[in-house]
Amino acid sequence: MSEKAKLILPEKTIELPLFTGSEGEKAIDIMKLRQETGYVTFDPGFGNTCPAQSKVTFLDGDNGILRYRGYAIDELCDKSSFEAVSWLVLFGELPSAAQSAEFAAKVAKYSRLPDGILKLYDTMPKETHPMVLLSIGLSALSAYYPDLCDPKNKEQVEEATACAIGSMLPLVSFAYCRNQGRAYVYPVDPKSSNASALLKMMFGNLFVVDKDVEDVMDDLLILHADHEFNCSTSAVRLVGSSQANLFASLAAGVNALWGPLHGGANQAVVEMLLAISQENVDPEVYVSRVKQKDSGSRLMGFGHRVYKNYDPRATIIKKTCDKVMSKLGTDDPLLKIAQSLEKAALADPYFTSRKLYPNVDFYSGIVYRALNIPVEMFTPLFALGRLPGWIAHWREQNSDALNRIGRPRQIYQGAVKRSMT
Ligand code: CMC
Repeated sequence: MSEKAKLILPEKTIELPLFTGSEGEKAIDIMKLRQETGYVTFDPGFGNTCPAQSKVTFLDGDNGILRYRGYAIDELCDKSSFEAVSWLVLFGELPSAAQSAEFAAKVAKYSRLPDGILKLYDTMPKETHPMVLLSIGLSALSAYYPDLCDPKNKEQVEEATACAIGSMLPLVSFAYCRNQGRAYVYPVDPKSSNASALLKMMFGNLFVVDKDVEDVMDDLLILHADHEFNCSTSAVRLVGSSQANLFASLAAGVNALWGPLHGGANQAVVEMLLAISQENVDPEVYVSRVKQKDSGSRLMGFGHRVYKNYDPRATIIKKTCDKVMSKLGTDDPLLKIAQSLEKAALADPYFTSRKLYPNVDFYSGIVYRALNIPVEMFTPLFALGRLPGWIAHWREQNSDALNRIGRPRQIYQGAVKRSMT
């Protein structure tokens, strides 16, 4: 017999079904709550709300665990590639050689952007942030590929998946080229990895991609590939729930990711470190400042809604950071500031009692800086990595029998009925 929870309300008591996930996460099914009682749940920020069941990613925030389709991220970084992990996240299994080759061929059909999208890039003001270009570029795919926009048509969904994956690499790289006034150049070797192609498309075909640097970029892409129902993925799902096409839904994901509390934090961290360096602020003083609510600032790259322990992605990126620095012989003074901030925060009861630890964005920007990638490209690189996750969730929701249009309720607290006379 399935277990139930008893909800005692002033008017009546009802029973609500309980269920657990495959890793033991517990849920109360309130689907019939409003219908049976007239009550809704109040949950700002959705901290206790699970709008769907999912098979893509498992995240245990208390123990710092992150797995895609059952595989731990550190194992995937060690033994796999971003291309294979994308397939894993999208389709549920690691691909065979034949599946990889077949998918690569499908994606390659879309690896050159329609000229109109590049013209669109060129018409934007010079200082346009690359996240804006990415958002309009993804939206514009619906105009160039109208025959891939029916979410109910399985073949179109498969093709739209390949189209989004193939288009994203030039959309990201050329956003950089446009802002730097560089020519749009496609990689000479069509078989190169995303990590290598990205660097070639950004810095030109003559740029020699060091194998260790390529591996680091590959790991960073893997580490961003999915993170269950985060803000941008939820945005993709919410927009997709109205049966908006895949490209429109992904553009929503880019816009949600841009905010400094989400993916925009990687840019915000480096801007914070630069400000600390330029103003010569003592890291301990900075840490005391962010504790004051009226300071208007936070320690960027610290804290997470779900992780109440070290973000496992941050642990890997911190190691990567050391590797890149010693390989490239770079000595970035921002790294020392970041280390001092981390030390000061982790020794401070304000941070420890609230379980605020470095997150994925705390050290990633320092790695990108070592690779000469400008700060405004950090969040687009997050988006490049997150793309398979967004698509996997959109597809999963699209074939979920319980999917309904996302439409939360409110508790109205405005003026009661009144008249103009
Ligand atoms: N610096 C100072 N105080 C903080 C910070 C921080 N970075 N993060 C949380 N707090 C405090 C917050 O003021 C609150 O204190 P109190 O209980 O006294 O009111 C408490 O910790 C809980 O914070 P919250 O804002 O209720 O937590 P949340 O789950 O709503 O927010 C967060 C999570 C990531 C938005 C937040 O920790 C934050 O703003 N961090 C800085 C931005 C950042 O690094 N974002 C990247 C997140 S990881 C990448 C991704 O997946 O998006």
